[in-house]
Amino acid sequence: MTLPDALYDHDIDLSPLQACTLAIIGYGNHGRSHALNLRDSGVGKVLVALREGSPSRGKATSDGFDVVSLGEAAARADYISILAADEAHGAIWTDHVAPNRKAGQGLIFCHGFSIEYGLIDPPADCDVILAAAKGPGGAVRESFVRGGGLTGFWATQQDASGQADDIAKAYLKGLGCGRAGIFPTSFREEALADILGEQAVLVGGMCALARQGYETLVEAGLSPLMAYIDTVHELKYIAELIHMRGIAGMYAAISDTAEFGAHGVEARIADAVKPVFEDIVSDVTSGAFARRWVADFEQDRAGLHAARSRAAGHELEATGRYLRQALGLE
Ligand SMILES: NC(=O)c1ccc[n+]([C@@H]2O[C@H](COP(=O)([O-])OP(=O)(O)OC[C@H]3O[C@@H](n4cnc5c(N)ncnc54)[C@H](OP(=O)(O)O)[C@@H]3O)[C@@H](O)[C@H]2O)c1
Repeated sequence: MTLPDALYDHDIDLSPLQACTLAIIGYGNHGRSHALNLRDSGVGKVLVALREGSPSRGKATSDGFDVVSLGEAAARADYISILAADEAHGAIWTDHVAPNRKAGQGLIFCHGFSIEYGLIDPPADCDVILAAAKGPGGAVRESFVRGGGLTGFWATQQDASGQADDIAKAYLKGLGCGRAGIFPTSFREEALADILGEQAVLVGGMCALARQGYETLVEAGLSPLMAYIDTVHELKYIAELIHMRGIAGMYAAISDTAEFGAHGVEARIADAVKPVFEDIVSDVTSGAFARRWVADFEQDRAGLHAARSRAAGHELEATGRYLRQALGLE
């Protein structure tokens, strides 16, 4: 197995970005953190671009940024970092950026979704850059303020300026990723890894296992409280051990009874989910998932809202609330 070498701050020159006007579209978790970190790192001029009536305008203004419309950002900036919700990228591009954009303006993304699955079809005159700080947006700022950073991944899909690689690396350095390590990737790799990870393992997979475990114990006659503690509430402790020590390290830190039993069933569970995971890979790489999600977004997210209410209505949520109240967590 070969793993790529990391780049660090001392390997990267920030100056290509220091000469630029950069507009950041969106002031959510990533947008705010990118804008603050890049400004603190000395990037030339950072504008924040928000939609009409945006609830984020007050926060961006009080953080000291010039807030402009999406059209003005497209007209003024050398690079636009699109940090709005992925499913809205197609409409943002078609309605605001494409009709107003300064010739040669480069595009920067922190997730491969909208380029890889065709929501945006960029013209040939622009750099198309992925600069992904891997983690939630809030952590991009928190780690930077503490003097650290998140792992960064960069890719260039188009290099019209001849400096796209340098801009990508400088952008990640400005976010603080050069303190942790910066690695090459591709839009395709980042998009599939991120989406498969969240659907199959971190969110969809984990919730399915937890919910199934809870239901199986309750059907076997156990109290919902006991079932909840052992299948949902304690996930945090195992996740923390894996984060800090890896899977083998987690196994070494738990009881031998738990370890022996878990090794015994891991393969059976893996065999059962493998075909589902393979289906997810096809669904994502074919673009079918992206098309479904954009279609739902265009229907005011009706499917998402329905799924959200079904999840919130599960009996397990009432058990969880009872436990958290008893523990003083809510
Ligand atoms: N690399 C990684 O590991 C990683 C992790 C998480 C997220 N991401 C990526 O980061 C990007 C932003 O995610 P986030 O977590 O920061 O999202 P977020 O907190 O939900 O913020 C989304 C922002 O998008 C804006 N927005 C939504 N619809 C819009 C529209 N139609 N026009 C203009 N602006 C619109 C919202 O504007 P208002 O403020 O006006 O509501 C908000 O400021 C996405 O591409 C996401 O995939 C990457």
